[in-house]
Amino acid sequence: MTTINLNSGATAAVLHEVDLADLPVIGAIPQDLNGVLVRNGPNPLRGHFKGNDVSDWWPEDAMLHGISLKQGRATNYRNRWVRTKRWADVYDFDASPTLLNTNPNVNVLYHAGEILALAEGGPPLAITTELETLGAARCHPGLANGMTAHPKVDPQTGELISFRADWKKPFLRYTVTDKKGMPSVDIDIEMSSASMMHDMAITATRSIFLDLNVGYDLSMLSRGHRMPLRWRDDHKAKLGIIPRNGGDVRWFEITPCFIQHVVNAYDADEATVVLDAVRYPRYFRLEEDGLRFEAAPLGVLWRYVIDLDSGAVLEKQLADICIELPRINEGRTGRPYRFLYAAEQPTNTEIRGVVRYELESGSIQRYRVPEGDSNSEPVFVARPTSSVEDDGWLLVCVYRHATDTSDLVILDGKNIESTPIATVPLPGRIPAGFHGAWLPKDC
Ligand SMILES: [Fe+2]
Repeated sequence: MTTINLNSGATAAVLHEVDLADLPVIGAIPQDLNGVLVRNGPNPLRGHFKGNDVSDWWPEDAMLHGISLKQGRATNYRNRWVRTKRWADVYDFDASPTLLNTNPNVNVLYHAGEILALAEGGPPLAITTELETLGAARCHPGLANGMTAHPKVDPQTGELISFRADWKKPFLRYTVTDKKGMPSVDIDIEMSSASMMHDMAITATRSIFLDLNVGYDLSMLSRGHRMPLRWRDDHKAKLGIIPRNGGDVRWFEITPCFIQHVVNAYDADEATVVLDAVRYPRYFRLEEDGLRFEAAPLGVLWRYVIDLDSGAVLEKQLADICIELPRINEGRTGRPYRFLYAAEQPTNTEIRGVVRYELESGSIQRYRVPEGDSNSEPVFVARPTSSVEDDGWLLVCVYRHATDTSDLVILDGKNIESTPIATVPLPGRIPAGFHGAWLPKDC
């Protein structure tokens, strides 16, 4: 596994919580872009990563960053560690008994009137747009035992579709939460082993699980790794498809791989499901010494076309671009779509650049980020008054190596190659994190 120095540059921890008002703006922030961009990621409470590979990076303590935009102004930036038991152990021991033992450092979700910071499998925590931690989710009682950090919201029904992968049998739990936050489906799904399932996909009628070649192996902990994960040559990679409201799962074998993030999925017709994802042919595969990981090939955009009648799965690479952290206009989640946006990965150690890919023509636009700098995932925000899929803005946090600071860059969703619509230079750094969400002003 290729390593980087986590304690310098874009990944290094921020040591203090700050509040800044009335930030400078280069260009013009759109008047109808009103809300808060919240980003989430690992930021060790003690200010220092213990090692330099992903198993040192991924599990560290959750820190949120929020940039508020209002009527053409960047009104505020603040950052906060999520208040958890881990936070209290370092900063406020007296608060420890009241705080939860979870680490929601992966993603942010707005659903059923509640903003949630999401963990990799652990319970989510409710937060505010000011990044205060409220505690356990109050409007989602069915999710208290934990959930994925990548649930999907059906843009038409408002349902929240989720799962919880477990180390113990039956290894998977599937849930659907209605638009008001109440559980409508909550069922166990039996799998042959504990797979690392980071993401899922939905169509208008079905949900899709990923039972792939990276799985849990607790012996990895005694081999010096903080996460019990490794590639399994002998595991049959499968896609599982279940009707939205529950029923039997049908499993479809595919070529060995790992998918960290899906792009989208949809029903092409009654008997055909399409799934697009960022696919790796190997990931977390151990070298012969059984201790270190091999360097993983870069992820590429991949399509699976599943014929439900015959059981056949067509697999094909869609584009010759190496990407991660894909996002779409979430109004198209689970539906046919034309555009995806993603961070570009020129090498194993860089997330640098943004691509916009048009699925019908295969055309690619690039927002280029200079060597030495790096960027977050691009978050697409649809223009509130428009139903055109790419009519909106792309919000990207770009780390500037020369100044050790970050900029919020606002790009035109239709043309990311043009000069940014606006840039908000911050006096500090938003570390390279995982995922974020745009919270419109009325949430
Ligand atoms: Fe993720």
